[in-house]
Amino acid sequence: MTVEIAKLKQQLKKLEAEFGKIRTIAPEKRATFGKELNAKKQFLLNQIAKLEQSALDADVAPIDITAPTAPNQPLPQLMTADHGSRHPLMTEMDRVMQIYQLMGFDIVESRQLDDEFHMFDSLNFPKDHPARGDYDTFRTEENFIPPAHTSTMQHRVLKSYKHKLEQGRPIAVAVPGRVFRNEDIDATHEHTLYQCEGVYVSSDCNLGHMLGVLREFFERYFEQPLKIRTQPGFFPFTEPSLEFLIEKPKSIGGKGAGWLEMLGCGMIHPNVLKMADIDPEKYSGFAWGGGIDRLLMLRYGLSDIRYLESGKLRFLKEFR
Ligand code: DAH
Repeated sequence: MTVEIAKLKQQLKKLEAEFGKIRTIAPEKRATFGKELNAKKQFLLNQIAKLEQSALDADVAPIDITAPTAPNQPLPQLMTADHGSRHPLMTEMDRVMQIYQLMGFDIVESRQLDDEFHMFDSLNFPKDHPARGDYDTFRTEENFIPPAHTSTMQHRVLKSYKHKLEQGRPIAVAVPGRVFRNEDIDATHEHTLYQCEGVYVSSDCNLGHMLGVLREFFERYFEQPLKIRTQPGFFPFTEPSLEFLIEKPKSIGGKGAGWLEMLGCGMIHPNVLKMADIDPEKYSGFAWGGGIDRLLMLRYGLSDIRYLESGKLRFLKEFR
């Protein structure tokens, strides 16, 4: 379709050059000559508009995931059809996980439906504390919660990796997952997004180690040295709690000024360790969590987060 449109546009260009010839034509023939040119021009413009409209109609249609596949079609035919491709968020997620794996982290995926205990109690949110309200969660009729952050996995990770501490080894786990928030949606807010959580526990770790790990991650991710900064934050599950910032990387237009808030982090609260039967007198840990969508948006200069959940082919094709 785009080839046809380009051809028509070329014809239009040639035609427009013809208009210049009017002055060289005998005055009595000019009117007919002009009329003919205008009619041809109008015809081409209509054709182009029609084709552009149908290209648009085809592109903006969301993917129909219920459409039957065609397993018996010969491969070349399948390859020329609009057969889909990997979603850019999944590619980004892989990239993030690969970096954590190279840094020695295990990967545990979070779940898309969780409960009150993992969303709040296990994370040291006191019962009826207003901090619970900061997370605008959805609920199912049975009172399950589509998780509002990947921190819901902290308790499970601590419990299932505790044996490593007993063997004298640290817990180092990254948790990617899809999270859901009851947000008013705009260019920078979505109800559905992806996060990655990090959990590290050992007998001798401190805040300095955490800043080192986070800097290492972001320098690998943006492939350049970066300055980092923190500012105070509040999360019931960490003490102290921090917001972690990086200087805007040069590769995405940073000029040494300007900071980007990347994630929330802190030293794991002793109550969170205790709830997973880890002795906070013997062990300490740090944890962090941040959005994958935001990373993708920064790296590609994407201005509107809503594209990512839109299923629009025109957007997705740009990442093929
Ligand atoms: N779960 C927090 C959020 O989504 C981010 C976060 C903060 C995760 C501190 C952590 C942490 O693991 O220690 O807002």
